Amino acid sequence: MRKTVCIIALLFGSLAAPGQVKLTRENIDDVLSEMTLKEKATLVVGAGYKSMLAGITGADVRVPGAAGMTRAISRLGIPAVVLSDGPAGVRIEPARKRSKATFYCTGFPIGSLLSSTWNPEMVERVGAAIGNEALEYGVDVLLAPGMNIQRNPLCGRNFEYYSEDPLLSGVIAASYVNGVQSEGVGTSVKHFAANNQETNRFWNDSRVDEEVLRGLYLRNFEIAIKLSRPWTVMASYNRINGIHTQQDKWLLTDVLRDEWGFDGLVMTDWTGKRDTPAQISAGCDLMEPGEKSQINELVRSVKRGELPEEALDICVRRVLELIVKTPVFNGYTPSQAPDLKSHAAVAQEAAEDGIVLLENRSRALPLERGSVVALFGVGSYQLLPGGTGSGHVHRPYVVNLDEGMAGEGFTLLPTLTDLYGRYIDKNKPKKTMLSGMLGSAGAPEMELDRSIVESVAGEADCAIITISRQAGEGGDRHLEGDFLLEEKEKRMIADVCEVFHSLGKKVTVVLNVGGVIETASWKDLPDAIVLAWQPGQEGGRAVARILSGKVCPSGRLPVTFPAGYFDLPSSAHFPYEYSGRSSMAGGGNAGDDVPNVGYTEYAEGMEVGYRHYVLSESPAPSYPFGYGLSYTTFETGTPVIDGNSVTVTVTNTGAVAGKEVVIIMDPFLQTFGKTRLLLPGESQTLVLPLFFPAP
Ligand code: GLC
Repeated sequence: MRKTVCIIALLFGSLAAPGQVKLTRENIDDVLSEMTLKEKATLVVGAGYKSMLAGITGADVRVPGAAGMTRAISRLGIPAVVLSDGPAGVRIEPARKRSKATFYCTGFPIGSLLSSTWNPEMVERVGAAIGNEALEYGVDVLLAPGMNIQRNPLCGRNFEYYSEDPLLSGVIAASYVNGVQSEGVGTSVKHFAANNQETNRFWNDSRVDEEVLRGLYLRNFEIAIKLSRPWTVMASYNRINGIHTQQDKWLLTDVLRDEWGFDGLVMTDWTGKRDTPAQISAGCDLMEPGEKSQINELVRSVKRGELPEEALDICVRRVLELIVKTPVFNGYTPSQAPDLKSHAAVAQEAAEDGIVLLENRSRALPLERGSVVALFGVGSYQLLPGGTGSGHVHRPYVVNLDEGMAGEGFTLLPTLTDLYGRYIDKNKPKKTMLSGMLGSAGAPEMELDRSIVESVAGEADCAIITISRQAGEGGDRHLEGDFLLEEKEKRMIADVCEVFHSLGKKVTVVLNVGGVIETASWKDLPDAIVLAWQPGQEGGRAVARILSGKVCPSGRLPVTFPAGYFDLPSSAHFPYEYSGRSSMAGGGNAGDDVPNVGYTEYAEGMEVGYRHYVLSESPAPSYPFGYGLSYTTFETGTPVIDGNSVTVTVTNTGAVAGKEVVIIMDPFLQTFGKTRLLLPGESQTLVLPLFFPAP
């Protein structure tokens, strides 16, 4: 008898009594039919800021510092899922109450450096390392990559983004997503879409012609989604042509799903309650961070017959389909101890692969081994490894340039080390709760007295000057003292170059910046210029290995450095002078009728970045898209188009090993690829897929 009962139970297990069904990969429809209306509404609304603020409140959550969670429904075996930032490394609290352990995460280079590698394989390895840290710390979905088109050099979040070109941006994003998701952790490609400024970001209306929207601002997301199938998409704060993206059915359902075939989940960016039923109807499945009032609003709206329950069911199903993929649902036990040492090596290698050599006159670089180096600039002793905001990372350490140089066997001048060390200690910003969570700028540049330069020049073989720039979420950059050098920076470069050149000694400028700055007016003064971007926690070591010649620079620009800011047509439609409320404050609209604040006309159309120089007469850029020098030389054969790929052979014709980037433009970017490290005389034939030929 017992046996018969067991068999019957097994056969009809799925017909278990109501309320006993537990979620599996196979029974989502059964669970959906079991759910009450309140449970459905609960599942599409996040659990609030509890985990993000746990470092301050001490709340007992699974991953303190994670940006958000979904809500569990234990009756149905539905766990809460953890969502955490960010693109340059997992952002969670590095310490927890009631634990002596630490939870540091590797600080990888910023997005703009990753795209400067032009190396999908390298970026995929970075993604895998970040994905592993997410997995081992209990994060189910990483809120990355940030991939908006760099429409204008002064967007505060360009550091997180990849390029002015949709193909490069989309392919790099896809590589990152494939890397992270290879670890069984989800991603969220963001911020969908046309979120290209921080000023008034919660309300700003991006007014974009549909052809331009599709050809530029959606194109990179389309490429990334078709090449990598991200688990989720994050709908941005802003409006497009008058409609908030988070409730734009054309964007989230007609284009994203019906045209592109996206089969994952759409979540909001971290928005307060808006029109929740409209968001659900448009195909936005998950409200983050979430608040109870959204649950009640949905229940009311369905009961009043305003929101069809079927529309809610569609979103609930997509939340369930996400949950059954997650590590927590599949019973994974995080080790809480990822291999940070091996990940640091990946971060260093990626930084070395993306650093761009902009100038190298009379072979100033690489430096002679064992040189005595006069190191100027606050940034030489206080590297900025990454930007601020949700893209911040609690790193175990940061290698500054002075440390990296010493590690490479160079001798530094104690006079300068002491001088800058004391200045930084005195002038670095005090740590606050906010800067603890979101990072901060460092000490401002020091006024360097020429007498100091003159007093040390005789002791050194050469000089290095670091110029630093910080930027971050919630505010855009400005022209004066940001895009343009400050007077004290111009004086420092001029003085050091005059004094050291008078002694026949060379000068290198290192740019530790999150975005494009003005270079044309001063780039002829030094002998060499190295663009280090914000190279992550291993940055000082990576830059030093480039300067020493241990590594041959192979980065190429993913974005144009214009000769002048106003050469770019978008400069007429960007809030570079706006000094109103930071949009980090969220909340109300800064003014619908204020140009470039309430709304921004994308009047430049397709003329973004290098496309402007292709499509219009304009002064040549200071450094063009795709530009970068090497310590060796290469010969690149004639590319041969064969169906939907291009074959091309590259030979190292120089004296040192190096990597070459092949970039095929016609006139827009058609495809690209990077060789492995080629020894002198060695060749490699690349087969470059014509992913998505630019129209
Ligand atoms: C922020 C950012 C987004 C981030 C989210 C969670 O406002 O716009 O990139 O993932 O909120 O921190």
